[in-house]
Amino acid sequence: MIIFNSAQKLKNHLNGIRSQGKTIGFAPTMGALHKGHISLISTAKAQCDVVVCSIFVNPTQFNDLSDLDKYPRTLEADIVLLESANCDILFAPEISEIYSEQEINAKKNNVEDKTWMVGKTVDFGLLDKVMEGALRPGHFNGVAQVVSKLFRIVEPNKSFFGQKDFQQLTIIKSMVRQLEMPIEIVACPIVRESDGLAMSSRNTRLTKDDRKRVPFIFKTLSYIVDTYKDSTINELLEEVELEFSIDDFMKLEYLEIVDAETLQPIDDLETATSAVACIAVKLSNVRLIDNIILF
Ligand code: PAJ
Repeated sequence: MIIFNSAQKLKNHLNGIRSQGKTIGFAPTMGALHKGHISLISTAKAQCDVVVCSIFVNPTQFNDLSDLDKYPRTLEADIVLLESANCDILFAPEISEIYSEQEINAKKNNVEDKTWMVGKTVDFGLLDKVMEGALRPGHFNGVAQVVSKLFRIVEPNKSFFGQKDFQQLTIIKSMVRQLEMPIEIVACPIVRESDGLAMSSRNTRLTKDDRKRVPFIFKTLSYIVDTYKDSTINELLEEVELEFSIDDFMKLEYLEIVDAETLQPIDDLETATSAVACIAVKLSNVRLIDNIILF
Protein backbone atom coordinates (compact mmCIF):
# COMPACT_ATOMS: atom_id res chain seq x y z
CA MET A 1 0.00 0.00 0.00
CA ILE A 2 1.33 3.45 -0.88
CA ILE A 3 0.75 6.15 1.74
CA PHE A 4 0.36 9.80 0.74
CA ASN A 5 0.21 12.81 3.06
CA SER A 6 0.36 15.33 0.25
CA ALA A 7 -2.77 15.99 -1.82
CA GLN A 8 -0.73 17.11 -4.82
CA LYS A 9 1.44 13.98 -4.82
CA LEU A 10 -1.66 11.79 -4.56
CA LYS A 11 -3.29 13.68 -7.45
CA ASN A 12 -0.19 13.20 -9.63
CA HIS A 13 -0.10 9.49 -8.84
CA LEU A 14 -3.81 9.05 -9.58
CA ASN A 15 -3.48 10.94 -12.87
CA GLY A 16 -0.99 8.26 -13.92
CA ILE A 17 -3.44 5.52 -12.95
CA ARG A 18 -6.31 7.16 -14.84
CA SER A 19 -4.12 7.55 -17.94
CA GLN A 20 -3.71 3.75 -17.94
CA GLY A 21 -7.51 3.50 -18.22
CA LYS A 22 -7.90 2.12 -14.68
CA THR A 23 -10.92 2.86 -12.48
CA ILE A 24 -10.55 4.35 -9.00
CA GLY A 25 -12.68 3.42 -5.98
CA PHE A 26 -12.61 5.59 -2.87
CA ALA A 27 -13.67 5.08 0.76
CA PRO A 28 -13.33 8.17 2.99
CA THR A 29 -12.96 7.45 6.72
CA MET A 30 -11.90 9.07 9.97
CA GLY A 31 -9.74 6.07 10.94
CA ALA A 32 -9.99 3.84 14.03
CA LEU A 33 -10.86 1.27 11.42
CA HIS A 34 -12.97 -1.83 12.04
CA LYS A 35 -14.66 -4.50 9.94
CA GLY A 36 -17.36 -2.03 8.85
CA HIS A 37 -14.75 0.18 7.18
CA ILE A 38 -12.94 -2.84 5.77
CA SER A 39 -16.18 -4.03 4.13
CA LEU A 40 -16.17 -0.77 2.13
CA ILE A 41 -12.59 -1.49 0.99
CA SER A 42 -13.51 -5.08 0.00
CA THR A 43 -16.55 -3.91 -1.97
CA ALA A 44 -14.43 -1.24 -3.66
CA LYS A 45 -11.73 -3.82 -4.52
CA ALA A 46 -14.37 -6.01 -6.17
CA GLN A 47 -15.69 -3.12 -8.30
CA CYS A 48 -12.63 -0.96 -9.12
CA ASP A 49 -9.03 -1.42 -10.31
CA VAL A 50 -7.38 0.77 -7.69
CA VAL A 51 -8.75 1.52 -4.20
CA VAL A 52 -7.99 4.62 -2.17
CA CYS A 53 -8.90 4.97 1.51
CA SER A 54 -8.57 8.30 3.30
CA ILE A 55 -8.08 8.74 7.03
CA PHE A 56 -8.78 12.27 8.20
CA VAL A 57 -10.44 13.20 11.48
CA ASN A 58 -12.38 16.13 10.09
CA PRO A 59 -12.61 18.99 12.62
CA THR A 60 -15.39 20.84 10.79
CA GLN A 61 -17.99 18.10 11.34
CA PHE A 62 -17.58 17.99 15.13
CA ASN A 63 -19.93 20.21 17.12
CA ASP A 64 -18.20 19.45 20.33
CA LEU A 65 -14.43 20.00 20.47
CA SER A 66 -14.06 17.51 23.32
CA ASP A 67 -15.61 14.88 21.03
CA LEU A 68 -12.95 15.77 18.42
CA ASP A 69 -10.17 15.41 21.03
CA LYS A 70 -11.57 12.11 22.27
CA TYR A 71 -11.92 10.66 18.76
CA PRO A 72 -9.72 7.51 18.67
CA ARG A 73 -6.58 7.76 16.53
CA THR A 74 -4.99 4.40 15.72
CA LEU A 75 -3.05 4.98 12.49
CA GLU A 76 -0.59 2.10 12.85
CA ALA A 77 -3.28 -0.50 13.46
CA ASP A 78 -5.34 1.07 10.63
CA ILE A 79 -2.45 0.60 8.21
CA VAL A 80 -2.17 -3.09 9.16
CA LEU A 81 -5.91 -3.59 8.57
CA LEU A 82 -5.85 -1.76 5.23
CA GLU A 83 -2.86 -3.78 4.06
CA SER A 84 -4.58 -7.03 4.97
CA ALA A 85 -7.60 -5.88 2.92
CA ASN A 86 -5.27 -5.19 -0.05
CA CYS A 87 -6.08 -1.49 -0.10
CA ASP A 88 -3.83 0.11 -2.73
CA ILE A 89 -3.49 3.67 -1.46
CA LEU A 90 -3.93 5.44 1.87
CA PHE A 91 -4.35 9.21 1.93
CA ALA A 92 -3.67 10.53 5.44
CA PRO A 93 -3.36 14.31 5.17
CA GLU A 94 -2.59 16.94 7.80
CA ILE A 95 -5.30 19.56 8.36
CA SER A 96 -3.35 22.16 6.32
CA GLU A 97 -3.54 19.88 3.22
CA ILE A 98 -7.33 20.08 3.33
CA TYR A 99 -8.27 23.44 4.84
CA SER A 100 -7.18 27.03 4.31
CA GLU A 101 -6.61 29.38 7.27
CA GLN A 102 -9.90 31.06 6.38
CA GLU A 103 -11.81 27.77 6.63
CA ILE A 104 -10.19 26.92 9.97
CA ASN A 105 -11.01 30.38 11.30
CA ALA A 106 -14.63 30.02 10.16
CA LYS A 107 -14.83 26.81 12.22
CA LYS A 108 -13.22 28.50 15.24
CA ASN A 109 -15.77 31.32 14.98
CA ASN A 110 -18.62 28.84 14.57
CA VAL A 111 -19.46 30.08 11.08
CA GLU A 112 -20.59 27.56 8.45
CA ASP A 113 -18.12 27.88 5.56
CA LYS A 114 -19.79 27.43 2.17
CA THR A 115 -16.77 28.01 -0.09
CA TRP A 116 -16.58 24.23 -0.75
CA MET A 117 -19.58 24.67 -3.08
CA VAL A 118 -17.17 26.45 -5.50
CA GLY A 119 -19.55 28.74 -7.38
CA LYS A 120 -22.59 26.44 -7.09
CA THR A 121 -25.40 26.55 -4.55
CA VAL A 122 -25.95 23.28 -2.77
CA ASP A 123 -29.19 23.14 -0.84
CA PHE A 124 -30.01 20.02 1.14
CA GLY A 125 -33.57 21.21 1.77
CA LEU A 126 -34.96 19.24 4.69
CA LEU A 127 -32.39 16.41 4.45
CA ASP A 128 -30.00 18.06 6.91
CA LYS A 129 -32.69 19.52 9.16
CA VAL A 130 -33.91 16.24 10.67
CA MET A 131 -32.43 13.63 13.03
CA GLU A 132 -28.61 14.10 13.25
CA GLY A 133 -28.91 17.44 11.46
CA ALA A 134 -31.38 18.77 14.03
CA LEU A 135 -29.20 17.65 16.95
CA ARG A 136 -25.81 18.55 15.47
CA PRO A 137 -26.07 21.95 13.75
CA GLY A 138 -23.41 22.40 11.04
CA HIS A 139 -22.40 18.73 11.15
CA PHE A 140 -23.54 17.88 7.62
CA ASN A 141 -22.08 21.09 6.20
CA GLY A 142 -18.74 19.90 7.63
CA VAL A 143 -19.22 16.41 6.16
CA ALA A 144 -20.13 17.76 2.71
CA GLN A 145 -17.25 20.25 2.92
CA VAL A 146 -14.62 17.56 3.57
CA VAL A 147 -16.09 14.92 1.24
CA SER A 148 -16.37 17.41 -1.67
CA LYS A 149 -12.71 18.39 -1.09
CA LEU A 150 -11.60 14.76 -0.95
CA PHE A 151 -13.62 14.02 -4.13
CA ARG A 152 -11.85 16.89 -5.92
CA ILE A 153 -8.47 15.45 -4.90
CA VAL A 154 -9.17 11.75 -5.60
CA GLU A 155 -11.70 12.16 -8.48
CA PRO A 156 -12.91 8.58 -8.01
CA ASN A 157 -15.21 6.73 -10.42
CA LYS A 158 -17.06 5.27 -7.44
CA SER A 159 -17.14 6.12 -3.75
CA PHE A 160 -18.26 3.74 -1.03
CA PHE A 161 -20.30 4.74 2.03
CA GLY A 162 -21.86 2.69 4.83
CA GLN A 163 -25.61 2.51 5.37
CA LYS A 164 -24.73 2.78 9.07
CA ASP A 165 -24.78 6.57 8.52
CA PHE A 166 -27.96 6.54 6.46
CA GLN A 167 -28.55 10.30 6.60
CA GLN A 168 -24.93 11.02 5.64
CA LEU A 169 -25.25 8.67 2.65
CA THR A 170 -28.43 10.43 1.48
CA ILE A 171 -26.79 13.84 1.85
CA ILE A 172 -23.65 12.78 -0.05
CA LYS A 173 -25.82 11.47 -2.90
CA SER A 174 -27.63 14.80 -2.99
CA MET A 175 -24.33 16.74 -2.90
CA VAL A 176 -22.85 14.77 -5.81
CA ARG A 177 -26.03 15.38 -7.84
CA GLN A 178 -26.07 19.11 -7.12
CA LEU A 179 -22.33 19.60 -7.74
CA GLU A 180 -22.71 17.48 -10.92
CA MET A 181 -19.74 15.31 -9.93
CA PRO A 182 -19.36 12.22 -12.16
CA ILE A 183 -19.05 9.85 -9.18
CA GLU A 184 -21.24 6.84 -8.43
CA ILE A 185 -22.08 6.58 -4.73
CA VAL A 186 -22.26 2.94 -3.63
CA ALA A 187 -24.16 2.09 -0.42
CA CYS A 188 -22.69 -0.75 1.67
CA PRO A 189 -24.66 -2.74 4.29
CA ILE A 190 -24.13 -2.28 8.04
CA VAL A 191 -21.57 -4.65 9.57
CA ARG A 192 -22.54 -5.76 13.09
CA GLU A 193 -20.99 -7.51 16.07
CA SER A 194 -22.38 -10.99 16.77
CA ASP A 195 -24.85 -9.50 19.30
CA GLY A 196 -26.17 -7.05 16.72
CA LEU A 197 -24.33 -3.90 17.80
CA ALA A 198 -23.43 -1.89 14.69
CA MET A 199 -19.65 -1.57 14.48
CA SER A 200 -18.47 1.96 15.18
CA SER A 201 -15.21 3.66 16.11
CA ARG A 202 -17.13 5.08 19.08
CA ASN A 203 -17.85 1.62 20.54
CA THR A 204 -14.36 1.54 22.09
CA ARG A 205 -15.51 4.38 24.36
CA LEU A 206 -18.36 2.36 25.87
CA THR A 207 -17.90 1.35 29.51
CA LYS A 208 -18.10 -2.38 30.24
CA ASP A 209 -21.61 -2.00 31.64
CA ASP A 210 -22.81 0.13 28.74
CA ARG A 211 -21.37 -2.40 26.27
CA LYS A 212 -23.70 -5.01 27.86
CA ARG A 213 -26.69 -2.69 27.47
CA VAL A 214 -26.28 -1.58 23.87
CA PRO A 215 -27.37 -4.75 22.02
CA PHE A 216 -30.83 -3.52 23.04
CA ILE A 217 -30.58 -0.95 20.23
CA PHE A 218 -30.48 -3.61 17.49
CA LYS A 219 -33.07 -5.68 19.39
CA THR A 220 -35.37 -2.67 19.19
CA LEU A 221 -34.78 -2.26 15.45
CA SER A 222 -35.34 -5.99 14.88
CA TYR A 223 -38.57 -5.81 16.89
CA ILE A 224 -39.77 -2.99 14.63
CA VAL A 225 -38.99 -5.09 11.54
CA ASP A 226 -40.88 -8.05 13.00
CA THR A 227 -43.97 -6.14 14.09
CA TYR A 228 -44.46 -3.10 11.85
CA LYS A 229 -46.99 -4.88 9.64
CA ASP A 230 -49.31 -5.39 12.63
CA SER A 231 -49.04 -1.91 14.19
CA THR A 232 -49.37 1.75 13.38
CA ILE A 233 -46.26 3.93 13.46
CA ASN A 234 -47.51 5.76 16.54
CA GLU A 235 -48.07 2.51 18.42
CA LEU A 236 -44.55 1.34 17.58
CA LEU A 237 -42.92 4.62 18.57
CA GLU A 238 -44.85 4.79 21.83
CA GLU A 239 -43.94 1.23 22.74
CA VAL A 240 -40.22 1.83 22.16
CA GLU A 241 -40.28 5.19 23.96
CA LEU A 242 -41.84 3.45 26.97
CA GLU A 243 -39.14 0.75 26.98
CA PHE A 244 -36.38 3.37 26.95
CA SER A 245 -38.10 5.57 29.56
CA ILE A 246 -37.74 2.81 32.17
CA ASP A 247 -34.01 2.44 31.42
CA ASP A 248 -31.86 4.78 33.52
CA PHE A 249 -28.72 4.31 31.45
CA MET A 250 -29.79 4.65 27.83
CA LYS A 251 -31.50 7.84 26.72
CA LEU A 252 -33.45 7.62 23.48
CA GLU A 253 -32.55 10.78 21.53
CA TYR A 254 -34.80 9.92 18.64
CA LEU A 255 -36.50 7.05 16.90
CA GLU A 256 -37.97 7.98 13.55
CA ILE A 257 -39.45 5.96 10.75
CA VAL A 258 -38.64 7.94 7.62
CA ASP A 259 -38.89 7.81 3.86
CA ALA A 260 -35.53 6.57 2.48
CA GLU A 261 -35.29 9.39 -0.09
CA THR A 262 -36.67 12.43 1.71
CA LEU A 263 -35.81 11.37 5.30
CA GLN A 264 -39.13 12.86 6.36
CA PRO A 265 -41.19 10.97 8.97
CA ILE A 266 -43.81 8.65 7.55
CA ASP A 267 -47.36 8.88 8.89
CA ASP A 268 -48.85 5.83 7.28
CA LEU A 269 -46.89 2.70 6.40
CA GLU A 270 -49.59 1.55 3.95
CA THR A 271 -49.10 4.46 1.59
CA ALA A 272 -45.31 4.78 2.04
CA THR A 273 -42.99 3.67 -0.78
CA SER A 274 -39.98 3.06 1.47
CA ALA A 275 -39.30 3.13 5.20
CA VAL A 276 -36.17 3.22 7.35
CA ALA A 277 -36.20 3.16 11.14
CA CYS A 278 -33.42 5.43 12.46
CA ILE A 279 -32.40 5.58 16.09
CA ALA A 280 -29.96 7.58 18.24
CA VAL A 281 -29.20 6.60 21.83
CA LYS A 282 -27.09 8.43 24.39
CA LEU A 283 -25.17 6.56 27.08
CA SER A 284 -22.91 7.92 29.82
CA ASN A 285 -20.23 9.24 27.48
CA VAL A 286 -21.09 8.07 23.97
CA ARG A 287 -23.98 8.50 21.57
CA LEU A 288 -24.69 5.73 19.10
CA ILE A 289 -26.76 5.74 15.93
CA ASP A 290 -28.19 2.80 14.03
CA ASN A 291 -30.92 2.09 11.50
CA ILE A 292 -32.71 -0.65 9.66
CA ILE A 293 -34.46 -0.64 6.30
CA LEU A 294 -38.06 -1.88 6.63
CA PHE A 295 -38.83 -1.81 2.90
P1 PAJ B 1 -16.33 7.15 9.66
O1 PAJ B 1 -17.25 7.22 10.82
O2 PAJ B 1 -14.92 6.74 9.86
O3 PAJ B 1 -16.99 6.16 8.62
C1 PAJ B 1 -16.40 5.98 7.36
C2 PAJ B 1 -17.34 5.14 6.52
O4 PAJ B 1 -17.49 3.84 7.12
C3 PAJ B 1 -18.76 5.75 6.42
O5 PAJ B 1 -19.23 5.61 5.09
C4 PAJ B 1 -19.54 4.90 7.39
O6 PAJ B 1 -20.93 4.83 7.11
C5 PAJ B 1 -18.88 3.54 7.20
N1 PAJ B 1 -19.14 2.66 8.36
C6 PAJ B 1 -18.91 2.93 9.67
N2 PAJ B 1 -19.35 1.90 10.42
C7 PAJ B 1 -19.87 0.99 9.59
C8 PAJ B 1 -20.48 -0.30 9.78
N3 PAJ B 1 -20.66 -0.82 10.99
N4 PAJ B 1 -20.89 -0.97 8.68
C9 PAJ B 1 -20.73 -0.45 7.44
N5 PAJ B 1 -20.16 0.75 7.20
C10 PAJ B 1 -19.73 1.46 8.25
O7 PAJ B 1 -18.45 8.71 8.22
C11 PAJ B 1 -17.37 9.24 8.40
O8 PAJ B 1 -16.27 8.57 8.91
C12 PAJ B 1 -17.10 10.69 8.07
O9 PAJ B 1 -18.28 11.42 8.25
C13 PAJ B 1 -16.56 10.90 6.62
C14 PAJ B 1 -17.55 10.43 5.56
C15 PAJ B 1 -15.21 10.16 6.45
C16 PAJ B 1 -16.30 12.41 6.40
O10 PAJ B 1 -15.41 12.92 7.32
